[in-house]
Amino acid sequence: MAFELENIVPWGRSYEEYIAMFALGRAELSGRILGCGDGPSSFNAHASRRGIRVVSCDPIYQFSTAEIRGRIRKVVPEILRQLRENADDYCWDRFSSPEALCRRRLEAMNDFLEDFTNGKKEGRYLEASLPRLPFGTQTFDLAISSHLLFTYSSHLSLEFHLESILELCRVAREVRIFPQLDISRRESPHREPLVRELTACGFGVESIRVDYEFQKGSNAYLRIFTP
Ligand SMILES: C[S@@+](CC[C@H](N)C(=O)[O-])C[C@H]1O[C@@H](n2cnc3c(N)ncnc32)[C@H](O)[C@@H]1O
Repeated sequence: MAFELENIVPWGRSYEEYIAMFALGRAELSGRILGCGDGPSSFNAHASRRGIRVVSCDPIYQFSTAEIRGRIRKVVPEILRQLRENADDYCWDRFSSPEALCRRRLEAMNDFLEDFTNGKKEGRYLEASLPRLPFGTQTFDLAISSHLLFTYSSHLSLEFHLESILELCRVAREVRIFPQLDISRRESPHREPLVRELTACGFGVESIRVDYEFQKGSNAYLRIFTP
């Protein structure tokens, strides 16, 4: 089935949020990083400016800058409405209000949009979709994925999650997934079966607490690695 931009909500977090969500320090940032499902986040734009080697992949990279910008503009009012309506579900220390959050995210997405054409030419933004990625085995030191797996547990099956995580483990030595809750702040129903299956396959799996919590109760990433 063709990937329709109209069906997705392009929404991107900032470089600083990525650093906090995945507790990225000097060691991680000195290796090759894959950002899977990075969408219009500014992680790649800012990381690349700092000399960090990042490739981002996402199906929306098949669209033009103007098309992605247009779609972002369309979804903002609905996102703002939902944030106001469900404000109690979020921690408002990093962002003071739904309006402040939208301003910050729009700045981050604008940084992405300004970087997109160049980054695509440089091979930093690649159109690709889980559960199959166009990279060789162990191309990356670390693969990170934010607000795709677990978040959309009601749309993406356990099989899709397992295939996707195994594919991420094929292309990277270590995988980090944030958050582990679904969009309704429940622990993803896929988490426990996945941990069992991945452990049985010989992977190390652990939950790592981080200094980032926006969705209340969501403050840890899942780390999957080869022991
Ligand atoms: C909610 S956004 C998160 C964007 C970014 N990771 C962040 O946290 O700011 C989810 C992203 O996943 C992408 N996506 C959807 N299906 C995908 C797939 N099968 N493989 C990789 N990315 C996918 C969407 O295009 C979208 O950009």
